[in-house]
Amino acid sequence: MTPSLDPASIRAIRIREPGEPEVLEPARIELPPLLPHEVRVRVRASGLNRADLLERRGGHVPQPGTPPGIPGLEYAGVVDAVGAACTLRDVGDPVMGIVGGGGYAEALHVSERETIRVPEGMDLVEAAAIPEAFLTAWDATFRQAGLAPGETLLIHAVGSGVGTAALQLARWAGARVIGTSRTADKLEEARELGLGCAVLTGDESTDWAAEVRAGSPDGRGVDVVLDLVGGGYASRTLETLAQGARWIVVGIPSGREARLDLRGLMMRRASIRGTMLRSRPSEEKAELARSFEDTVLNGFEEGALRPVIDRVFPSEETVEAHRYMESNRNFGKILLAWS
Ligand SMILES: NC(=O)c1ccc[n+]([C@@H]2O[C@H](COP(=O)([O-])OP(=O)(O)OC[C@H]3O[C@@H](n4cnc5c(N)ncnc54)[C@H](OP(=O)(O)O)[C@@H]3O)[C@@H](O)[C@H]2O)c1
Repeated sequence: MTPSLDPASIRAIRIREPGEPEVLEPARIELPPLLPHEVRVRVRASGLNRADLLERRGGHVPQPGTPPGIPGLEYAGVVDAVGAACTLRDVGDPVMGIVGGGGYAEALHVSERETIRVPEGMDLVEAAAIPEAFLTAWDATFRQAGLAPGETLLIHAVGSGVGTAALQLARWAGARVIGTSRTADKLEEARELGLGCAVLTGDESTDWAAEVRAGSPDGRGVDVVLDLVGGGYASRTLETLAQGARWIVVGIPSGREARLDLRGLMMRRASIRGTMLRSRPSEEKAELARSFEDTVLNGFEEGALRPVIDRVFPSEETVEAHRYMESNRNFGKILLAWS
């Protein structure tokens, strides 16, 4: 039997000081009092995200209300206690979700409306690979960029956690997908998830924008770009756009600054938009979670969608997990499991 939790002494992973992965260390934290609309979740697994690397290096302002120095933006686990005003969740319910921080912990408090039920029959560790990747991909690609059935989506870094989620969502919705990666093996793996056209990037001398256009219907270009790479690709990304295209910027590992031919943007009557999940107010996150549960969750239960997991590290090996993410070798998600 699992020993009961002591909210005054919860195992967590803390950033001792800004720096390399070695600054991550085990710690004990005390959970604040449970608010009436909150549930306590006993976490089975926490997902790793690129933002955790930035936070570890000191380049991130903590979100208000999150435990200081404890990274982590997503979790899956079981409801362990419910606040007095909760109506949606009960003790024992399997749930998953995103948080503004504090996800690297064996327990956390979260507003019950921000929790998402775990798909029927899914293992809790697997479920931890869903929230950040699928919520980000779905919100950016469909709710914001309005990808429609029959349209063509370009996903930069298609082998990433968000990329593999977007690829499956787009295929499920009846869209065509072109994906890029700097790694040929990742493109091969993405084909198994339904990638129609795979384009290898990374070598400055290859005109990958021409390959993307050639892969689109009649060479017209793409209708939506889910950009998980950013500035370094921007001038070529512009060349891939069809008339009226929507380009949504979600990640910027190749650089935050871009050189853009604005005339090219005008000629294509295209739009560029940026998005960020983490900094949204609680009510917006709750609306996103409720809507995701109503419209996307059945995709997992029908077998059209699945979490893509590269590796699961025990929480004691968080330092190795960060090193692994920094090596860019992962296809899909990296997780931390709490024993
Ligand atoms: N805005 C938001 O709310 C939000 C939410 C979640 C994630 N994100 C962002 O979305 C992106 C994907 O997140 P994730 O967790 O899915 O990441 P991930 O699984 O760790 O994958 C990131 C991939 O990006 C590619 N990459 C890294 N550095 C690059 C560079 N300098 N140039 C080109 N490609 C590079 C690599 O793929 P290849 O080896 O295949 O090239 C890498 O594996 C990240 O940038 C993350 O910060 C944003």
